[in-house]
Amino acid sequence: MRQPGPKTGAPNSVLSSKPGNHPILKVPVPLFDLSRLGSEVDEAVREAALRVLGHRGFVLGAEVEAFEKDLTVYLGDGHAVAMSSGTDAQLALLMAMEIGAGDAVISTPYTFFATAGCIHRTGAEVLFCDIDPETFMMDPECLRVLLSSLTRDDRGVLRSPRGNRIRLIIPIHLFGTCCDMDAIGEVAAEFGIEILEDAAQILGAKYPSKSGTQTAGLIAPTSYVSFYPSKNLGAAGDAGVAICLDGEMAEKLRRIRNHGMEQRYYHKVVGGNFRIDAIQAAILRAKLPFLDGWNATRRANAATYRAAFSKAGLLDRVTLPPEPFASSGLRDHHIYHQYVIRVPNRDALMAFLTDKKIGCAIYYPVPLHLQECFAYLGHKPGDFPASEQAAKESLALPIFPGLTLDEQQRVVDSIKQAFE
Ligand SMILES: Cc1ncc(COP(=O)(O)O)c(C=O)c1O
Repeated sequence: MRQPGPKTGAPNSVLSSKPGNHPILKVPVPLFDLSRLGSEVDEAVREAALRVLGHRGFVLGAEVEAFEKDLTVYLGDGHAVAMSSGTDAQLALLMAMEIGAGDAVISTPYTFFATAGCIHRTGAEVLFCDIDPETFMMDPECLRVLLSSLTRDDRGVLRSPRGNRIRLIIPIHLFGTCCDMDAIGEVAAEFGIEILEDAAQILGAKYPSKSGTQTAGLIAPTSYVSFYPSKNLGAAGDAGVAICLDGEMAEKLRRIRNHGMEQRYYHKVVGGNFRIDAIQAAILRAKLPFLDGWNATRRANAATYRAAFSKAGLLDRVTLPPEPFASSGLRDHHIYHQYVIRVPNRDALMAFLTDKKIGCAIYYPVPLHLQECFAYLGHKPGDFPASEQAAKESLALPIFPGLTLDEQQRVVDSIKQAFE
């Protein structure tokens, strides 16, 4: 696979400069820089965009079909229905499953808003389950405790404390590696509840299931991916895709994507305008062949950080991102969508790094159960302690393809300085 251009600096130089003495410490290190993907990528993107501007088929059509086909080949199975965003893909999936008032859907509070937001928008109840404090993702044990605490009605239907029917579990693969899908799957099967994967951040990752290697996004019957520009595969604007294993579900999703129409102006069901622009599909198709190379570069950057943090003697102060499946031998067990460290004094460290012009960001500062819009659910601080702790301690550092060894060293040097 093609990869972005070579890095500056000899591989070992990353560990050699002295903390605090770096000559260009005030030159910004961006959190993310899309301009560094290389001229080959730029050229492919420009060509794709110009092609669409040339034929003027701006919405859906052959460009979208071609991208969907390439994506299913890349994934190795399933059906891909490209949409206007990852959020819209999730909403379309929930609509296709006819989830709505009277239903409840389980997900985690430490994540981007979209997942819980879509559940709410269908009229269903959002039921939160805490995360594993080490992996940031759905804790199968918490899921078991939650489901075990619920009661079944006369007809054997599992109900939330508010009386809503438990329909679905949405585990969220966060930051680039998968949830413990075997364990979550076991609990879900025990209680007879279906799973929908939030694969927004994880295109290209593999999961070492007990039953063999699986592809993220194809572990559950349905999933969705985001192509927001900062994602590992990013569009030139908003875009996303719903993925499913079942052909009939794919047909349903195609209708829902286009206001429930098959034949123009005849509406079988109520859908939405979740159509993807052809220009986005063409650009994504042009970038797709580069994805594995970018993911490998992100993994190499993570390895560089690990060595540099270790060399700087910071491993007892900074918790590096977990790699729960590193021992699986799978190359793509992690695609490092984000490089999220944990530190107890996160806000002070962030202020220090910001002053040094080191790009960093908090994903995510307020867990969803404490968001104002979900106050009606009646949660309070302490309800989901692992999520609340993660929101207080997590800090994302630059990991994008094109980040230089020198920049990575400056990130680590600055963190070392912050602790001096
Ligand atoms: C975990 C997660 N879920 C859902 C989404 C929603 O995707 P989009 O921004 O494409 O609507 C995102 C995007 O940031 C995400 O990170």
